[in-house]
Amino acid sequence: MCGIVGYIGQKKAAGLLIEGLKRLEYRGYDSAGLCVCGEGTLHVQKSPGRVAAIEEMAGADASLQAGTVGIAHTRWATHGAPNQVNAHPHCDDGGRIALVHNGIIDNYATLKQFLLGKGHTFTSETDTEVLVNLIGEFYEDGCQTLEEAVQRALREVNGTYGIAVVSADEPDKLVAARKGSPLIIGVGDDEYVVASDAAAILEHTANVIYLNDNEMVVVGRDGMRTMTIDNVPVTKEVQQIEWSLEEIAKGGYPHFMLKEIMEQGEVARQSLRGRLDLRDKRVLLGGLREVARHLVRTRKLIVSACGTAWHAGLVGEFLFEDLAHIPTEVEYASEFRYRNPIIEERTVFVAISQSGETADTLAALREAEEKGATALGIVNVVGSTIARETDAGVYLHAGPEIGVASTKAFTGQVIAETLIALMLGRRRFMSQPAMTGYLEALSEIPDKIERILEQSDDIRQIAEAHCERENWLFLGRGYNYPIALEGALKLKEISYIHAEGLPAAEMKHGPIALINDGMPVVFVAPRCGTYDKITGNIEEIRARKGKVIVVATEGDEEIRRYSDHVIYVPDCPVPLSPLLTVVPLQLMAYHAAVARGCNVDKPRNLAKSVTVE
Ligand code: M6R
Repeated sequence: MCGIVGYIGQKKAAGLLIEGLKRLEYRGYDSAGLCVCGEGTLHVQKSPGRVAAIEEMAGADASLQAGTVGIAHTRWATHGAPNQVNAHPHCDDGGRIALVHNGIIDNYATLKQFLLGKGHTFTSETDTEVLVNLIGEFYEDGCQTLEEAVQRALREVNGTYGIAVVSADEPDKLVAARKGSPLIIGVGDDEYVVASDAAAILEHTANVIYLNDNEMVVVGRDGMRTMTIDNVPVTKEVQQIEWSLEEIAKGGYPHFMLKEIMEQGEVARQSLRGRLDLRDKRVLLGGLREVARHLVRTRKLIVSACGTAWHAGLVGEFLFEDLAHIPTEVEYASEFRYRNPIIEERTVFVAISQSGETADTLAALREAEEKGATALGIVNVVGSTIARETDAGVYLHAGPEIGVASTKAFTGQVIAETLIALMLGRRRFMSQPAMTGYLEALSEIPDKIERILEQSDDIRQIAEAHCERENWLFLGRGYNYPIALEGALKLKEISYIHAEGLPAAEMKHGPIALINDGMPVVFVAPRCGTYDKITGNIEEIRARKGKVIVVATEGDEEIRRYSDHVIYVPDCPVPLSPLLTVVPLQLMAYHAAVARGCNVDKPRNLAKSVTVE
C-alpha cells in the first residue's frame, strides 16, 4: 500500500528520498514521486510505474539536486487511475505547498465543492489534491504557519490519513500528521526522517517516535515539536527499532518470499524462545502476565483478522476450543466492524495481524473495545497501532516480513495461538502429562520445519509439472482445513492461478463438478481422526482423473497407492500439524509462480499492508 518518506537535515534530500522509496517498494505500489524544496520553489517529479523511473528522472533534473528538505511517495491507487497526474506529491493550485498522503479522505467531494466555490482548480482525480488545496486555502486565509493551516484543514477532514507536507514559503520545515495510517519519525543527528514504515528509516537511525491518531509533528532545523491536531502539545518517548538492516535484505535468496519461507525453522525457534519452560512444564508469555487471571475466566473468544492472518485465526479456533475448551468464533475483520456484534461479559477479542496496521482489523478491534471486550493482539511489528491499542498481547518475533505473500508470519501467528491455548488449557483443565507431551512436541517443531524445507527441489518439480493448469483445488479437514484455504490463497495471490480451498467433505456438495482430466487437487492429509474419510475423498478425485497431490505423514506408504505425488511431513500431535503442513504449500505456490514468470515479491494489484478499507 502507499508509502511515505520525508527528510529534513544536512544531506541532499533527493537521493535519500529515493533510497527510502526503494525500501518501501515491497509494500506494493503503482506510481511514485518526490518533491524537494529549493530556493523558494518546490521541485516535483512523479511517474507511473517503478521507483527506478523516478530515480532516472530525478537524476536528470538539476533543480532537484541541492535541496535538503523533501517528501516522497509510492502510490497504490484508490481515487483515480495510476498515472502521472494522480501520483503524489500533490501541490496546491498556487504551487506553494506539496503533500504526500496515505489513506482516504471520505468527505473529499464536499470539500472539493467548497474549494471550487473559492475559485480553486484541480488537475487530478485524487482526494489528496483536495486536501492540499484546503491547506492552501487556510494558509492564505489567516493562518500564520504551515502547521496551523494543516491543523485547520485536518479538522475539516473525515477519513484516514498519514501525511507529510512542505511549503515553499517555509522551506526549513516539514509537517506530518496521522489518523488511521501509520507514521514514524526517525530522530537522527541533526536530521529527521518521516516514514510510513520503519524500513525507510533504519538506514539513518534506530531512534524513532510513533505518532498516534490525531497527532502531528513539526520538524525543522531547530528540532521537533509534537502536538495534537487541536494544537495541544504532546510529549513523545523516543523508542528503538529492533530490526536490523540485514534482516530486511534478501540474504542471497532470489526473492524475499523464498527467504522468508526458508527462515521458518528459525522463526519458530525465535517465537518459542523463553516461552517454553520444559523444566516446569509451563508456557511463559510475558505480554499476557497482567491479564492471565482474567483470560482463564474467558467465556468466549472472538478472533478477527484478514487474509492469511484470518486463516491463522481459523487454526486458532481449533486450538482454543480443543486445547483450552473456550468457545471461539473467527470473524473477517471487514465484516465484524459493520455487523453490530454482540459482545457479552468475559468476552476476549483477539486481533491477529502481521503488520499491526491493517485498517479493517484495527476498526474491528476498536469496535470490540468500544463494546467492552478485553483485547489481545497477536502482532509481528513491534510498536504498530494494533500492538499499541490492545490491552495485552503476544509478539511473533518473526522479524520483518517483506514479501507481499505472508508466510513466516503465519507460522509465528499459529505458534503464538498454540502457546496461548496451552497456557489457558493447563490453567483450566489440561493434565500435566498432556501438557508435557505438547510442550515437548512443540519444541521439536523448528527442526521438523527445516526437514520439510529440504524438500524444496522435489516440490518445485511437482509445481512445474502442473503450473500450466489454471484451476486447482486444496482440500483438508479439521485442523488442516484452514491450511487448505491458506494453500489456495498463496497459490492464487502470487501465481494468478485460480485456486479454491475447501473442507474435503464439502467437495461432493458441488465443487466436484469442476474435476476434470488432469486438474491438480492438493489434499492436506496428515494422520488424524478423519484420515480414513479423506482417503475416500481422494478416491473420488482419482475416479474423475484429477491429479492428486497429497501432503501426508512420514511413514504413510499406503497413501502412495492413491496419489500422483506425495510430500511427506514429520509426525506430530494433530493440533501442531498445521505448523508443518502449511510449509509444502507455501513452497508449491512459490515454485509455481516462479515457473510462470510472475513477480513473486510484488504480485499485481496487491499491497503488503492494507491500510485502507
Ligand atoms: O498485516 P496483516 O497480517 O494484518 O495482513 C492481513 C492480510 O492483508 C494479509 O495476510 C494478506 O492476505 C497477504 N497478502 C496474504 O499473503
